[in-house]
Amino acid sequence: MAKQEDVFKKIISHAKEYGFIFPSSEIYDGLSAIYDYGQNGAELKNNIKQYWWKAMVQLNDNIVGIDTAIFMHPTIWKASGHVDAFNDPLIDNKDSKKRFRADVLIEDYCAKLEDKADKEIEKAAKRFGEAFDKKEFESTNPRVLEYREKQKTILSRMAQSLEKEDLGDVKALIEELEIADPDTGSKNWTDVRQFNLMFGTKLGASADSATDLYLRPETAQGIFVNFLNVQKTSRQKLPFGIAQIGKAFRNEIVARQFIFRMREFEQMEMQYFVPPGTELGFYETWKEKRLNWHLALGLGSENYKFHDHEKLAHYANAASDIEFKFPFGFKELEGIHSRTDFDLSAHEKHSGRKLQYFDAERNENYVPYVVETSVGLDRLFLAIFSNCLKDEVLEDGSERTVLSLPPALAPYKAAILPLMKKDGLAEYAQTIFNDLKYDFNLFYEEKDAIGKRYRRQDAIGTPFCITIDHDSLTDNTVTLRDRDTMKQERVAVADLRRIIDEKTNFRNLLSKI
Ligand code: GAP
Repeated sequence: MAKQEDVFKKIISHAKEYGFIFPSSEIYDGLSAIYDYGQNGAELKNNIKQYWWKAMVQLNDNIVGIDTAIFMHPTIWKASGHVDAFNDPLIDNKDSKKRFRADVLIEDYCAKLEDKADKEIEKAAKRFGEAFDKKEFESTNPRVLEYREKQKTILSRMAQSLEKEDLGDVKALIEELEIADPDTGSKNWTDVRQFNLMFGTKLGASADSATDLYLRPETAQGIFVNFLNVQKTSRQKLPFGIAQIGKAFRNEIVARQFIFRMREFEQMEMQYFVPPGTELGFYETWKEKRLNWHLALGLGSENYKFHDHEKLAHYANAASDIEFKFPFGFKELEGIHSRTDFDLSAHEKHSGRKLQYFDAERNENYVPYVVETSVGLDRLFLAIFSNCLKDEVLEDGSERTVLSLPPALAPYKAAILPLMKKDGLAEYAQTIFNDLKYDFNLFYEEKDAIGKRYRRQDAIGTPFCITIDHDSLTDNTVTLRDRDTMKQERVAVADLRRIIDEKTNFRNLLSKI
């Protein structure tokens, strides 16, 4: 089995074993691509939400946050284009009976060409050492140029065929490239068909009077239809943003890779309303701002890259993904889209209501343009969790598994651990717990040897362990153990709040953006 797969398996089993993520409805054998967050997962997820919300709403006086309903008037999805165009091209393998996204098969083929180009570059870098000029090599080496040119030709042909709805040509491309079912190697494909990703449901008591509804496939439309409500009541002037965190639902054809692609997931979206003609400037600014927000997490700048879109969605005049190096390679983490005035204009048309803004400086009414940032909360959870989970060999040869989460995101900020239950140690530890619990989420545990308890806290990412021993009773000091360095120092109980706060406060992340 490939090493990459082993790593990913370990991540999934660690997430389950330590109460982060469980398969949904597990006692009924689970439900495909649906997951539940356990006690530690819920805390980590809430902290990620807070990091995003604070960065958007708290740090920007021109961005406000809202929380709209999952059920929306069905015409909204007609106006937004989701009824007609929110489709994925699917293809089945006749032998394995497995279903794939045709565009993903082709993109994966191109990713392999890019891997080959990267390997040529790596080899040359080793050969030439310090004298290596990467830019020069990339622009002159015939093999690298050939791999990149081939990718470009394939992707642009696919984009054109999808644009023209020429699904026959998408199949022809798969056959010409001799793309096989990745699991079985079979090249026996059906035709390519379009498949709408929205889940339908019904509102109403009786079958005849019920209205057909959709579960929202993105949170953004809740923002668009409330644009004027929010603008008027918040008295914001353009440019200003509306942020929202909430559930979205998509009937994904290929739902693999754990919480990377789910059928029920959460999005953190922000729509930034700007005057027409200024959108591409704001688009560039938001690309940079969002990348910086990710970089502040400290997961390594080499793990991020932009992927500017060739094929634009029906609503966009520019779009880019921030890709992250997941255990299975670089994949989309966040989308930044310049959505023009498409959505607001479409809602004006379908609702018959004006969704315009009076610009006092320009002395005119217009439909604002929109730049959107949209990140999947679960996908971000996976990025952070997989990057932070490490096996370490210690100086004495023993091993430990540590989840080196950014301290502000850790489920528990500190664990309070009396060395033993008797002699009044537990009572003293509880006094510390009761004092600090108003400021921090704390873990309390009396059982097992202290080393074992430290390891369990490492595995869930707790930045500090506080051990209470007999000396604590007389000198009011405790042993403070740092998760990352494993250093232990004696500190005064009176200093605990300050020390924990210094390391775990959101300010540490937010001030780096
Ligand atoms: N409002 C724009 C929009 O929804 P998108 O690129 O379709 O754009 C935005 O989705 C983000 O939502 C993606 O970058 C990804 O992080 C997340 N996302 C999309 N589909 C997902 C799925 N099935 N499971 C988990 N996250 C998903």
